[in-house]
Amino acid sequence: MGKERNARWYDEVYASASSLYAADAVATPWYGIWLMAVFWLNGLRPQRIVDFGCGVGHLAQMISVGPNLRDVDYLGIDFSHVALTKARERAPESTFRCVDLSRHPVVDETREPGGLCVVSCEFLEHVEDDLRILAALVPGVSFFGSVPKRDDPGHVRWFANEQLVRDRYEPLFTNFELFPVGRRHFVFIGCRA
Ligand SMILES: C[S@@+](CC[C@H](N)C(=O)[O-])C[C@H]1O[C@@H](n2cnc3c(N)ncnc32)[C@H](O)[C@@H]1O
Repeated sequence: MGKERNARWYDEVYASASSLYAADAVATPWYGIWLMAVFWLNGLRPQRIVDFGCGVGHLAQMISVGPNLRDVDYLGIDFSHVALTKARERAPESTFRCVDLSRHPVVDETREPGGLCVVSCEFLEHVEDDLRILAALVPGVSFFGSVPKRDDPGHVRWFANEQLVRDRYEPLFTNFELFPVGRRHFVFIGCRA
């Protein structure tokens, strides 16, 4: 099992030229997840999107070029300065903020649920405090998350089957739905209870 890493560790990963994250979205293993997130967002037509652990801005870019979502207020949160510099280059119209979500799980923009969708692709497994971060979301907010089926040096947990994902996250949500995605991921959606 991996372990929780600090921002400097992610800065080094993202600064490496060989990082998969340097590629265009479509050339990465996470493209399907981001497509699902965009599909879900298109259906909900939010006024505001907050992206926890936004990384280098692939999802922000996909949101900003989509015809239905490009005018939505998007805020990407991450604690890696290198990630955020790359995200600002990739999605210059979007807003990004450097926050350690383990230390500051409450983001001001998520205090009001109206018109808000919170997205978090491949972030929750990187923090010990995932449940505290989700518990801090205001009731009624719509949430999209993805978690891995595999271990990685930065993963503090991974999920061998659907039941393990349900056991951990379903109690926090109403209208919880879970989707296995290929060999690598689970996606879940729900409304914070
Ligand atoms: C595997 S990456 C996923 C990035 C992006 N969501 C994606 O789908 O490509 C995990 C991200 O979580 C960020 N992260 C890890 N711990 C964090 C924390 N405590 N607060 C904020 N961001 C954190 C890392 O910097 C990294 O960008």
